[in-house]
Amino acid sequence: MTRSLLPALFARRRHLAILLYGIVAVVAYFCAYLIRFDFQPPRSYLGLFAWTIWPLVAIRLATFRIFRLTRERWRYAGAQDVVRLLSATLCGSLIFLVLFRFILPLNPVVPVSVVAAELVLMSWFTAGMWLTYRLFYERIRHNGDGQKRKRVLLIGAGEAGNLLLREMARFPTGYQPVGVVDDDSWMWGATLHGIEVIGATRDLPAIAASTKAEEIIIAVPSATPDDLRRIVQKCEATGLPFKVLPGIREVLAGDVRLQQLREVRIEDLLGREPIELELPELAADLHGETVLITGAAGSIGSELARQVALNAPATLVLLDQAETELFYLELELRRRHPKLQIIPVVADIVDVAAMQAVFDTWGPDQVFHAAAYKHVPMMELNAREAISNNVIGTWCVAEQAGRIGASKFVLVSTDKAVRPANVMGATKRVAELLVLEMQSRFPKTRFGAVRFGNVLGSNGSVIPVFRRQLAAGEPLTVTDPETTRYFMTIPEAVQLILKASLLPDFAGHIVMLDMGEPVKIVDLAENLLRLSGVPVTADRIVFTGLRPGEKLHEELAAPDEETMQTEIEKIRIIRSRPHEFGALLRRIEVWRHELDSGHLATIEQDFGELFPGLPLNLHGSHGRAAQLEVIAGD
Ligand SMILES: NC(=O)c1ccc[n+]([C@@H]2O[C@H](COP(=O)([O-])OP(=O)(O)OC[C@H]3O[C@@H](n4cnc5c(N)ncnc54)[C@H](O)[C@@H]3O)[C@@H](O)[C@H]2O)c1
Repeated sequence: MTRSLLPALFARRRHLAILLYGIVAVVAYFCAYLIRFDFQPPRSYLGLFAWTIWPLVAIRLATFRIFRLTRERWRYAGAQDVVRLLSATLCGSLIFLVLFRFILPLNPVVPVSVVAAELVLMSWFTAGMWLTYRLFYERIRHNGDGQKRKRVLLIGAGEAGNLLLREMARFPTGYQPVGVVDDDSWMWGATLHGIEVIGATRDLPAIAASTKAEEIIIAVPSATPDDLRRIVQKCEATGLPFKVLPGIREVLAGDVRLQQLREVRIEDLLGREPIELELPELAADLHGETVLITGAAGSIGSELARQVALNAPATLVLLDQAETELFYLELELRRRHPKLQIIPVVADIVDVAAMQAVFDTWGPDQVFHAAAYKHVPMMELNAREAISNNVIGTWCVAEQAGRIGASKFVLVSTDKAVRPANVMGATKRVAELLVLEMQSRFPKTRFGAVRFGNVLGSNGSVIPVFRRQLAAGEPLTVTDPETTRYFMTIPEAVQLILKASLLPDFAGHIVMLDMGEPVKIVDLAENLLRLSGVPVTADRIVFTGLRPGEKLHEELAAPDEETMQTEIEKIRIIRSRPHEFGALLRRIEVWRHELDSGHLATIEQDFGELFPGLPLNLHGSHGRAAQLEVIAGD
């Protein structure tokens, strides 16, 4: 019965609200007479009540409408609405008073005390009605579906925790908060939305047991990875499942919502201190500029686009050949920056005519070149494509940047370009050398490269691959127990790329990002298993052995490269010796011609000279039983 009635009432809620306000006005006015005359109003005043009640109801409804109280959704009523309610009732009472004391005085006259009492009662009754509705609504929403709610402990009594509790109170979230835990002893004993702050995270197992919690939510978006690691350990000790609110950045991007809860990711524990996203020096450099990002749909390129967009460029040209990913990026950026001019360009960086057209049309001031092929074992089998994309593609984009006189060209490079042991690394090394040579060819443009190691969670990198293996119930594949890699979060790497490009010495140089201590891949795998609640046993991790082109440890600079600290922490500049090979740019025409014709003798010879001992199979994997294991690339 209640179920069928409720939707009908809900559909007519505005009419119902008007009716209820009218009833409240009648009741409040009548009660005012009762109070004024000690519950025995004289007959003459009852007559006065009967004469004046209808004008009063009309005035009340009119003022409530003017103050937009007839449209209000009662379940959201808050302090602002109470202020509007008081203003509306006060206004209505004044009109009523002026009308029946000065304009149309009756006999007997309406007593001021009755008007005053009616004003107070009307406000109280209305506010009380809102509150009752809200409590009733929340009860119905929470219990009406008959589902059992999960008892949940919240860690963090700060802003995020508060917002989550409010959300749990208002909506049918499936959660019933049973306590809050916070390390700040000042908070202990306080209540947030009726839920007590019980104690500190060190007592989490005991608190979880005493509150019979079934799940834990970590709502500390400002936690550093160290803090988070500690909290996660405590959560693990309870044996309960736990979830985390995303980082401060995601929370800042929107309201705190329960839908944002997710599993703790290994990146959360490995990442560094949160980074600042808007920096005055970047804003000054990018403000009003036209910025072109190649490979914009990829891991690095898309984050570059996000961070550049934050710094108010005039136009952002996003270039990639991956149409769908580019489409989603464009959607995301348009939503976040509705005023920014965003030009999505689907094009191939190797296509000279297309690049010419893009540069002529948009005339970018700054170019960030992140389009590349990056997967090491795959590029071993597709060396021709790697050279075409990473070398000729880079030349093509850099040449156009120089031709139109762009102010800056930044090549996104990789630690695999250092003493390359594989084709991918070799092509990126050649790209670096090309970019450095471009500096003398086009002195007006500041050409430079930024080199860094693996970033966490990029497309096809080790963590997404591990996650897929975990989801499929397969063992995690690690090349060697001793393999290490540098890791950095994508936002951090991108921020450093942007900052590095501001260095006075950037032009004509390679800079490298200090990636901190390398991490053992096997440790990463074990941590991931633990976080996923999977026991770390020998059969859970399989060692596959190094594959063609892979190194045990990556390095960020070659022994013959001298590195110098810059004024920016974590950025070092490389003073490379001039390479013996001579002008690369002159070879490009020959290489392009050979790649088109399929006779690759000069390329083979030149690469042999540049990288002695590097196996280079330019004729690809066609016809060979190429067995590629699915594992991390860059
Ligand atoms: N991901 C890492 O851990 C990492 C670390 C250090 C350096 N890097 C370097 O950063 C660069 C980008 O890496 P990522 O992780 O973003 O890779 P990604 O594969 O996620 O992105 C590369 C993007 O470039 C696009 N692209 C490739 N060839 C293109 C072409 N011919 N024309 C137009 N678009 C093309 C792809 O469609 C893709 O969207 C690479 O050079 C890589 O070596 C990456």
